[in-house]
Amino acid sequence: MTRYLMPLLCCMLMAVSCGPAIQESLDSDGNYAATLKAKKHYILIPSSYAGKPSKMDLEVDGASVFEFVQDVTLAKDAVDYWIPVDVSPYKGNEVTLKLTGVSQSDPVYGGIKLSDTIDMDYDEPLRMVYHFTPLFGWNNDPNGLFYKDGIWHMYFQHNPYSVFWGNMTWGHATSKDLIHWTQHDNVLHPDPLGAIFSGSAVIDKDNTAGFGKDAVVAIYTSDRNGERQSIAYSTDGGYSFTKYAGNPVLPDNPATRDFRDPKVYWIGGKWVMAISARQVVEFYGSPNLKDWHLLSRFGEGIGSHRSVWECPDLRKFEYEGKEKWVLFVTIGQDPNHANNTQYFIGDFDGERFTADPLPYPLWVDQGVNQYAGVTYANAPDDRTVFVAWLTSSAFSSTMPATKFFTGGMTLPHELSLKSNGSHPILASVPSPEVYAARGKASSLSLKAGERTLIPGSANGAYEIDLSFTPAGPEPFGFILSNDAGEKVVYTFKPSEGRLETDRSQSGLQAFPKEVASPVVSVIPVRDSYKVQLFYDRMVSEMFVNDGDAVATNCVYPSAYYDHVEVFGSAAVSSAMSYEMK
Ligand code: FRU
Repeated sequence: MTRYLMPLLCCMLMAVSCGPAIQESLDSDGNYAATLKAKKHYILIPSSYAGKPSKMDLEVDGASVFEFVQDVTLAKDAVDYWIPVDVSPYKGNEVTLKLTGVSQSDPVYGGIKLSDTIDMDYDEPLRMVYHFTPLFGWNNDPNGLFYKDGIWHMYFQHNPYSVFWGNMTWGHATSKDLIHWTQHDNVLHPDPLGAIFSGSAVIDKDNTAGFGKDAVVAIYTSDRNGERQSIAYSTDGGYSFTKYAGNPVLPDNPATRDFRDPKVYWIGGKWVMAISARQVVEFYGSPNLKDWHLLSRFGEGIGSHRSVWECPDLRKFEYEGKEKWVLFVTIGQDPNHANNTQYFIGDFDGERFTADPLPYPLWVDQGVNQYAGVTYANAPDDRTVFVAWLTSSAFSSTMPATKFFTGGMTLPHELSLKSNGSHPILASVPSPEVYAARGKASSLSLKAGERTLIPGSANGAYEIDLSFTPAGPEPFGFILSNDAGEKVVYTFKPSEGRLETDRSQSGLQAFPKEVASPVVSVIPVRDSYKVQLFYDRMVSEMFVNDGDAVATNCVYPSAYYDHVEVFGSAAVSSAMSYEMK
């Protein structure tokens, strides 16, 4: 009996003796403060998409820890979601949450709560099943990808406080199988040097930086009234970082404000950094990750210069028995362009990259929604594993496409060089780990013009593999559709070497005008076409002919596509579907 009575009694006593757990104050300028004991993982703030902008600060022992959090959107009347503020580092301490622009009638006043979990429906209809998505908030670029001791680490550009871009923080997730991810607490938060923009991570095997043998060192851009490069180190395998006291390690670039996204490698006995500087890539060298000197510049007069260059990456490959280097550069700030990451093939002598004469620009992805892709450091067996931001965007500044998160990441791709018949091209195929996520396989019997139900498609997560042999130059292709009449139409035009993805009737949202017309993908002309399509609720990732082309495009159906139909004069020599888990 006492077993049951004791807790009850304690509760009653606490309620009486402790008074209200949250002490609130609000002044006539709308400055709100809530003082409370950080007994749980998160403080939850009532918010709405079309709410009021507010600045947020968190004070612990009188000192500000969140000085630079901007654009927190507070609920005005209805609460759409709860903003989670991680207070776990201060567990047991008294903390004060401060917000601006609050009035007494706002749901915030009297509505703040403590929780160990984020308050939301995780399985919202368009949340992808076998692609990474952030638990809550916005993500863009993958950052600091590294593999160590059987774990794939992924940091990412994260706004922990909104489903729109802002407050750039490094989020963190890990995976054992490269498909299913566990999200951890954020590792790098904005500071007086700036928001934490994109960058990379290395394992300092020889302790060159003095942070310890095998320390994980993150190299990132600090963005605030300009851009500079900073480092932080982790001695617990990448789960928490300490910022280096001597930051920045590379000051603002006198030539340009756009100076960001450092990617660092150990090449030829020194650290080499590739970093974008407006519309070129600069290479820097360092013995210790702290002192950097300029080695060379690449990019003037070559490739596409339609916009700022971002997120460079440099990788070594073998092609026809020779060493070849590929330099990747993401371009443009508008993700709604086809062809977002260009690449150059050539040589790197440890200091300087020279491009082979090829018909540039060459593009990594032939769709519109793959952006800022970079490769893993330290991947086993010297593999080149590439992951990119899946640029699912909001439909407007107050209307997200998905409710509790915006973004996601592509499947992991395995990169190599292959020939397109006349010159080398980058080949992207699904990493072998993707196949391990397959569930039940079914062979499909398809007849032109007839809709066939895809077995196991009810959860909106599957792969379809189709092999076509065109009878002549006429177009052929296939359609994914649902019973609401929504569809995506994939049309191959073999004589023109192109694939068109028509999303104009694909679902809920009208796409911006410039992408309502079909996405055009360039594909090398072959005698037959092997198509692997990975559909995951709101994304279509299509791989053609073992790396000839990959096209990543987002779709927003009101019900999952569960039927497939082929059309045109090509013979379908094989048709399989696989459930994906
Ligand atoms: C690319 C990018 C990077 C920058 C980051 C900021 O998407 O613009 O150049 O570091 O996003 O979030």
